[in-house]
Amino acid sequence: MAKRPFYISISGKGGAGKTTLTALLLKVLLEYSTNDEILVVDADPATNLPQVLGVEISKTVGDVAEEFRKGFHRLDNIGFEKSALLEYYIMRDCIVEAEGFDLLAMGRGEGEGCYCYINAVLSGILGKIVQHYTVILMDMEAGLEHLNRRLDRHVDTIVIVVDNSLMSLKTAEKMKEIIREVGLKISEIYIVGNRLHSKREEAVIQWALQNEFKYAGTIPEDRNIAELAANGMPLLKLPKDSEALRAAYIIAKNIDLI
Ligand SMILES: Nc1ncnc2c1ncn2[C@@H]1O[C@H](COP(=O)(O)OP(=O)(O)O)[C@@H](O)[C@H]1O
Ligand SMILES: [Mg+2]
Repeated sequence: MAKRPFYISISGKGGAGKTTLTALLLKVLLEYSTNDEILVVDADPATNLPQVLGVEISKTVGDVAEEFRKGFHRLDNIGFEKSALLEYYIMRDCIVEAEGFDLLAMGRGEGEGCYCYINAVLSGILGKIVQHYTVILMDMEAGLEHLNRRLDRHVDTIVIVVDNSLMSLKTAEKMKEIIREVGLKISEIYIVGNRLHSKREEAVIQWALQNEFKYAGTIPEDRNIAELAANGMPLLKLPKDSEALRAAYIIAKNIDLI
């Protein structure tokens, strides 16, 4: 039985394949899990996910927060009513209804201190809106900062994507340390390999075991992904028999998403 509610964040080094894995898991969900209310959150300030999913967004949380910053000068002191208003605008302007899922992009605010503020707001708002969804998939920014800011506090499963680089494994080890240090209540931390060379995969599995991670599988290099990306086509258009999609299906099973 798939676990519900299921709040998962996809993390790891920049370029490891977080956004790709997020899109693949979403496609698997849309295919195999018809009863779910799905929210996909792009928590990377680079905001690549909407394009990868082929969804137009009108505003990011950062855009709305910035509008507020311009209107209300002391945002750090806003009282309950103004934060409720901000929440209202975020719900109205930032959550996009797509086919089979909703999408929320966090973006990035301008101005000093704004970024932390956005995270605090998003964290608070997520806490409320998660109640409307059975699955939340979060595509995180690269690296470790989001853990320090406790953006992951609504998450119970973390997937860390690693590639062939040692750096990606070191990033995963550090993430685990920080998760412990800040006391995040994470029930599972999984490792997913992306484009691992065949010999490397075995080494990654051993490393995962040694570091008490659960290894959930590896997404192979898939030229369908590159072709879609080259033509600006959404990854949701991947052919059903794509190798990457088949691997994502197994990973979704292994992490109890489907
Ligand atoms: N398994 C794969 N097969 C082919 N191309 C891939 C694969 N994984 C990632 N890519 C490509 O590599 C680039 C980086 O991947 P991305 O998912 O955006 O990384 P991240 O979100 O971690 O920064 C993208 O252009 C993506 O299309
Ligand atoms: Mg990305």
